[in-house]
Amino acid sequence: MPHSIGFDIYGTLVDPLDMNEHLRPFAGDDADAMSALWRQKQLEYTFRRGLMKEYENFGVCTKQALGFAAESFGVSLSEDDEAALIGEYQNLRAFPDVAPGLEKMKERGHRLAAFSNGVEATARTLFENAGILSHLDEIVSVDDIGTFKPDPAVYEYLAKRFERDIEDVWLVSSNPFDVIGAKAIGMNAAWIKRSGDAVLDPWGFEPDFVASDLEDLAEKFG
Ligand code: 2OP
Repeated sequence: MPHSIGFDIYGTLVDPLDMNEHLRPFAGDDADAMSALWRQKQLEYTFRRGLMKEYENFGVCTKQALGFAAESFGVSLSEDDEAALIGEYQNLRAFPDVAPGLEKMKERGHRLAAFSNGVEATARTLFENAGILSHLDEIVSVDDIGTFKPDPAVYEYLAKRFERDIEDVWLVSSNPFDVIGAKAIGMNAAWIKRSGDAVLDPWGFEPDFVASDLEDLAEKFG
């Protein structure tokens, strides 16, 4: 039967750690560690802002996290440098399995939405640049409701956009916090375990599927 499926973006469809190469001219050997800190703080800021009810969109969280990571590594970035790096975020490449995997699921009649903390316009540009916009039926951004994953409200919003009951909707993500957030409110969830040593937080919420990538997932959905 056709499913309604929301796909997380960063880490699931595109790889934010591709930013390592763009940081190397500024941070040298610290580039990989700085890139990891940037992603860690970007997510931390969304969690904190959601809890504090101090919402700023994902672009602001990404920019402020870059500032934190740069200062932490003693890297001085001009405003132009910062704007260029944030701009590269919109050029992140899609993982190679994403286009064929989405196409297979689309051909089988499943309804596919990007579902992200990212602002819709930013996500649309990202998908155009990555050449995967045509594989998606819609883009659902939590920015519409002014909070962040894993606030239960975001999964309720995804189900509303699909016009389905929450237990009839699927969340697909490589991010354990997202998979657990969806399962905690009764949504189905597939974990894209892109690396063998990835660990799901031992909270007692288990994904319905574990797939290594989107082509593997397409086979599991049938
Ligand atoms: C998302 O795309 C941040 O990966 C998270 O919503």
